[in-house]
Amino acid sequence: MRKPIIAGNWKMNMTPTEAIELVRALAPLVKDAKCDVVVCPPAIDLSFVAEAISGTNIKLGAQNVHWADKGAYTGEISAKMLLDLGVKYAIVGHSERRQYFGETDETVNMRAKAAIAAGITPIICVGESLEQRENGVTDAVVTVQTVAALKDIEAEQVANLVIAYEPIWAIGTGKTATKEDANATIKVIRDAVRGVFGQNVSDRVRIQYGGSMNPKNVSELMSMDEIDGGLIGGASLKADDFSKVVNYQ
Ligand code: PGA
Repeated sequence: MRKPIIAGNWKMNMTPTEAIELVRALAPLVKDAKCDVVVCPPAIDLSFVAEAISGTNIKLGAQNVHWADKGAYTGEISAKMLLDLGVKYAIVGHSERRQYFGETDETVNMRAKAAIAAGITPIICVGESLEQRENGVTDAVVTVQTVAALKDIEAEQVANLVIAYEPIWAIGTGKTATKEDANATIKVIRDAVRGVFGQNVSDRVRIQYGGSMNPKNVSELMSMDEIDGGLIGGASLKADDFSKVVNYQ
């Protein structure tokens, strides 16, 4: 019922020249994908990638979005600016933003609301640290993050956005959550959505897994009921690897 969505988070990788090369190589490899395919390049690459993917089934995503329309926010980018370039998705609240750039549940919520107001679909990231997992508080952590991120968003809009469950200890480490653990925690996130917005919304909202997802483990992760796609870091930087993830069987 939910169409899977696989998004590449390039993080701070790829010059504009490299970005164009990557998507040109990627486009023919993913043209028959059954899932939604998204690439999220650094902001400076967006206009080049927008042009290179025009006429393909690849959609453009940003890695962040500011909550204000415009103004004195040096270094930030508004949803209106992204929209003007053809950006359809924006990652919000990635753990690297939370960890290194002071992102909080409150700013994540503000950014998500600004994206939605502009017609951009937020990909809202939640996930526990290793310490939190070892202390047995994973479910509580992702529930609090999810409810806070979705505060004051309309039910219908929640149904149409994307959540990425990314255990921090699995990001860039080569350690993937087991398919059972990923599925169980995504179920907890879906239950949190249901608690606030009801069954219909929780049945429709797409929840990805992220954290060392790659061509080898994608099929087993995607075989799980609750997992509706992936947010892919390292394996999204090579056309061959990313296309294998997108074309999982
Ligand atoms: P990874 O990153 O696939 O390199 O673990 C995922 C992410 O941070 O979105």
